[in-house]
Amino acid sequence: MTAKRVPTGMDMLDGIIGGGFRHGKNYLLSGETGTGKTIFGLQFLVKGFELGEGGVYVSVDEKPSDVIEDANSFGFDFEERIEENNLLILDYSSHFDQLREKSKEIDVRKIVGDLNKYLKEINAKRLVIDPIAPFIVKDDTIWEIRRYIRALFYSLDTLDCTSVLTSAIPTGTNQLSQYGIEEFYASGVIVLSIRQLEKMQYRRIIFVRKMRGTPYELEPYVFDFEYGKGIVIQRKLSEEYVF
Ligand SMILES: Nc1ncnc2c1ncn2[C@@H]1O[C@H](COP(=O)(O)OP(=O)(O)O)[C@@H](O)[C@H]1O
Ligand SMILES: [Mg+2]
Repeated sequence: MTAKRVPTGMDMLDGIIGGGFRHGKNYLLSGETGTGKTIFGLQFLVKGFELGEGGVYVSVDEKPSDVIEDANSFGFDFEERIEENNLLILDYSSHFDQLREKSKEIDVRKIVGDLNKYLKEINAKRLVIDPIAPFIVKDDTIWEIRRYIRALFYSLDTLDCTSVLTSAIPTGTNQLSQYGIEEFYASGVIVLSIRQLEKMQYRRIIFVRKMRGTPYELEPYVFDFEYGKGIVIQRKLSEEYVF
C-alpha cells in the first residue's frame, strides 16, 4: 500500500516529492538562521487548516506571541485558529528548564507522551517542532545522544501526525543538523539556504536532500516569500544561468 501523501503547503515542492510528505513520518528542515524554516513550519500548518486538519506548533526559541506575529506578517490569522481549537502553540522554552531542574536526563517517552496529549486535544494531524535541538541533552556522550535521538524519532513515529522538525545549522558549515545524527532518522531532509550567485546577487534556495520512498531529481530550486502564501518556489536554480 502506498502511504497517504500530506501536502506541504508548497505546490511545487509537492510536485517534486510525489505529492507531499508521507503521513505519520518526520521530516527535518535544515538551514542557517534567516533561511525561512519558521515560515515553512507556519505554512505547513496553514495547509493543514485548509484541509480541516489541526496543528500543534512547539516553539522553543520564539515566544508564542512572536510566532503569531510572524504568521500575521504573511496574513495568516493564527489567533483565530487558536480560538477555533485548530491550533495550539506550545512554549517549550521554560518547559525544558523545569524538566532539567528535576532530572538531568529528559525522558523521551514522557515528552512525546505529553505532546501526544496536546495533539489529541485538538485532533491535530500536523506537528512542528521549531527547533528540535533543545529536545536533546547536550552534555551526554555521543553514544547517549545517538540513542536518545533514535528513541525520540521512534517515539515521534508512533504519533498519528506528520512532523516537521527544524534544525538550525551553524552558519558557514555543511552540516545538516546540530548533532549530525538527526538526518539519519528523519524520513526526509529539506535544506533551505541563501546563496550568492554572482556579484551582489543573492537567492533563496530550497533543496530536497533526502526523501524516503520517493524518487526525485536532485535539483536546487529558487524561492521567494509572498504575502498570503509564504514560501513560493519559482524555478530550478539551473534555469537562472544563461549559458
Ligand atoms: N512577512 C514577510 N514577508 C516577506 N519576507 C519575510 C516576512 N517575514 C520574514 N521574512 C523573511 O524571512 C526571514 C526569516 O525567516 P524565518 O523563517 O524566521 O527564518 P529561520 O526560522 O530559518 O531563522 C527574514 O529574514 C525575512 O527575510
Ligand atoms: Mg526560526
